[in-house]
Amino acid sequence: MIQFEHRPGILDLSWGHPRPDLLPVREWAAASAGLDWRALTYGAAAGPTPLLESLGDPDRTFVTGGASHGLALLTELLSAPGDVILVDSPTYHLAFPILATGGRTLRHIPPSGLAGFVRDLRRGGRRVPLLYLVPTFGNPTGRSLPFEDRRALIEVARAEGVTIVEDDTYRELTYDGPAPPSLWEMAGGAPVVRLGSFAKTVAPGLRLGWINAQPDVVRGLTTLGYVHSGGGVNHTAAVTMAVFRAGGGYRRHVDRVRDVYRTQRDALVTALREGFAGVESPAGGWFVWLPLPAGLTGSGLLPAAEQRGVSFVPGHRFWADGSAGASRIRLSFSHLPADDLRRAAERLTETVARRP
Ligand SMILES: Cc1ncc(COP(=O)(O)O)c(C=O)c1O
Repeated sequence: MIQFEHRPGILDLSWGHPRPDLLPVREWAAASAGLDWRALTYGAAAGPTPLLESLGDPDRTFVTGGASHGLALLTELLSAPGDVILVDSPTYHLAFPILATGGRTLRHIPPSGLAGFVRDLRRGGRRVPLLYLVPTFGNPTGRSLPFEDRRALIEVARAEGVTIVEDDTYRELTYDGPAPPSLWEMAGGAPVVRLGSFAKTVAPGLRLGWINAQPDVVRGLTTLGYVHSGGGVNHTAAVTMAVFRAGGGYRRHVDRVRDVYRTQRDALVTALREGFAGVESPAGGWFVWLPLPAGLTGSGLLPAAEQRGVSFVPGHRFWADGSAGASRIRLSFSHLPADDLRRAAERLTETVARRP
């Protein structure tokens, strides 16, 4: 069983996966070809030095088995069962079960008055150690948090002693110019910890990503029992990535896929605009966050859409409590080529036009 299931006859825009024929099979094999026994030993706890150096600051970097793994590690290290964890809304829905592990409670970040909200929770006896969001090319919206809001969020988090977990998985996939600065960069480190991933830029099957955090957090990660017992969490893939990056293969590959995904974004957005109002073109990432015509809901529309051969994720799934988002759907333009995306948009338009 793999995470993605192909359903014959359905153009499935629900999966945020890279297009299979863009996965760098030959380039990765070439990077692996020159490795010696050192790639197959136990590794250093935080990851191999060449990869840590290529990612920036070795003292503040820890190699993970992907962003999901990084999130699980940070949840374990920086919070405890019974704590409240604040989450953006809408945000990446598969983060919810990771953050809610072991009886942690998820609460939405309020649209205003964050400091008061945190203080009220604490007065009620709850600990509020973490706040999770995807501020750059977010999943599911494709939007980025404005600069001033970034600054304000960092200030409140610092004042209230809350660690921001910045999921920065889509940063490299920017289509209309440079990505906004990360919260991690803006804050100069604490109170932010940042998740990076090679799943979207290179290949999800590598299970490879990293955490940027203050040295004490990195030290805490390296002393987790299973890291201490087994050495670096993904040594062979990490060593290969260091070679892939040093030889320029990573840069060439990301430049190439960025161009392809931009073309796919444009194909989907243009085709959707034939049938829908209010279609935003995301400046990066993989998702269009489509508002449905009045009176329609994503979950109501899904069976008819699948009968017509197109699928998507209903919007309410991106709220931790499912309380909003019913009138939106998330469409991914990463997985299918432009012609299929145009056909998918037509099928969606027909589904909405022929609704009972
Ligand atoms: C915002 C976000 N974070 C994390 C992930 C998972 O990343 P990884 O495969 O590196 O665990 C995804 C994948 O969809 C994502 O959209």
